[in-house]
Amino acid sequence: MINLNECYYNFDIDIKKLLDLEYIKRKAQEHSDNRMTLVISELALKSEFFLYLKEYGIRDYLMLFIQQPGDLNEIIHTDYVTETQPHHYSFNIICQGYGKMTWFKRPEVGSKLSRHPNDPERIIYETYKGLTLEPVSVWDGHNGNTALVRTGIPHGVMNDGDEQRICLSIRIDDYGWTGAKDIFNNYFLINQISQ
Ligand SMILES: [Fe+2]
Repeated sequence: MINLNECYYNFDIDIKKLLDLEYIKRKAQEHSDNRMTLVISELALKSEFFLYLKEYGIRDYLMLFIQQPGDLNEIIHTDYVTETQPHHYSFNIICQGYGKMTWFKRPEVGSKLSRHPNDPERIIYETYKGLTLEPVSVWDGHNGNTALVRTGIPHGVMNDGDEQRICLSIRIDDYGWTGAKDIFNNYFLINQISQ
């Protein structure tokens, strides 16, 4: 595989210090028939972390991805903020289970912009139905793992583990890839969240 770009960046941290895992897992169970549900940022995150990220434009609602074991349907897509502006990155936290996130080279032609039926105003993405894309990078995300992931490059997730995957995805404003790494690393350093 050619690595066109750094597609993900791992943090070595204790997620229990960042999240209300009980709230997150309860929401995942309530919506286990969906692949995605929205959770309230202020309830999903510990208040110090929420207040810190508020300065950087954290959304009021965060996406919680739920994927059943054996679901190998990656649904490759690129995330957009508007129809012309990709959403460059998210901070992903694996709250349960495992998933393999793969990034692909964007095809020159044949993509299609869509809007998510649950939240058409805010969730815009590009899809590549019927196309074969070349993989460029893979992140193996296990329970407790966190990474800054590039969502502006075509990507998809499959769960070939034996447990339901629950992944909380945190979006803030765009500070560039290096800027975003610093924002999260600074918080983990100051609050001794790093392991
Ligand atoms: Fe995505």
